[in-house]
Amino acid sequence: MSKPVVWVSRPFFPDIVDRLREHFDVRAETEERPFSPAELAERLADADAAIVGLADKIDGKVLQGAPKLRFLANLAVGYNNLDIDALTSAGVGASNTPDVLNETVADYAWALMLAAARRVGESERWLRDGQWHGSRFEGWLGADVHGKTIGILGMGRIGQAIARRASGFRAPVIYHNRSRLEASIERDCGARYVDKATLLAQSDHLILVLPFTPANRHTIGEAELKAMKRTATLVNIARGGIVDDAALARALTDGTIASAALDVFEGEPQVHPDLLKIENIVLSPHIASASRDTRRDMAALAVDNVLAAFGHGPHAGRPPTILNPGVLADAS
Ligand code: GLV
Repeated sequence: MSKPVVWVSRPFFPDIVDRLREHFDVRAETEERPFSPAELAERLADADAAIVGLADKIDGKVLQGAPKLRFLANLAVGYNNLDIDALTSAGVGASNTPDVLNETVADYAWALMLAAARRVGESERWLRDGQWHGSRFEGWLGADVHGKTIGILGMGRIGQAIARRASGFRAPVIYHNRSRLEASIERDCGARYVDKATLLAQSDHLILVLPFTPANRHTIGEAELKAMKRTATLVNIARGGIVDDAALARALTDGTIASAALDVFEGEPQVHPDLLKIENIVLSPHIASASRDTRRDMAALAVDNVLAAFGHGPHAGRPPTILNPGVLADAS
């Protein structure tokens, strides 16, 4: 009997992809690039499973061209590139990569916050540009992070990992979330629940860790930026579109807030041109989870989910991070 086909939409760690070969006919792309809906449908036409990434938008229309598809693993914790309702109605299981990246993303949130507050990118560009001819005692004044109030909007497991790092900085943490955390978790991460208005008004450094949903679009826009301290730093490691990037560019230019750092952008990989002209912002190409260890762990988890969905490996029959488990129950 022929093996089921798995389409792997981008090249990654060959030793991890190889774990699929015993059970699957692996069709792995050798180049990483975005696919049009027509190309996606073409590649999924005879696929039983697929491993996709954030740039692959899988919706009902694409699924119409994928009659054999049973399981799709997303190489990311966020899954706003997937239409989960459409996948579920088509009987396709879907998984993401939660938890394995929490600590790495939390490290990166702190890296961006520190870099923006202490003007690391700006001063490095100036040095590389050959402009360092002498030091000014009042040059490159930034904002302290130690002892300052860290605000976190969206307090899932990544938000909690960010909060736990604050104790070494003796920095109080306030947070806002759809629902308040249990008291024991608040104690563990040393975070105090506040309403959104208080979060905006009191944070010296505000980090966004919300999932993207249409309701969360432009959660931080002109009004919210005006409600922040003029000395504040804003960090977005969540998703493009949660911040109104044009409004942020204006706020950084006119001094509404002091600095920002973005790892995610509206319409990425395009970056709003006004952001590129601004010095008091750190910009990075969506790399918060990109440590060698964590990207391997994410890849391994995606592969484990696919194997499990087809009855193989240590989790046979129970993909460990399936998003729509009802699909498997319906199929059994
Ligand atoms: C990255 O943005 C992810 O969702 O894993």
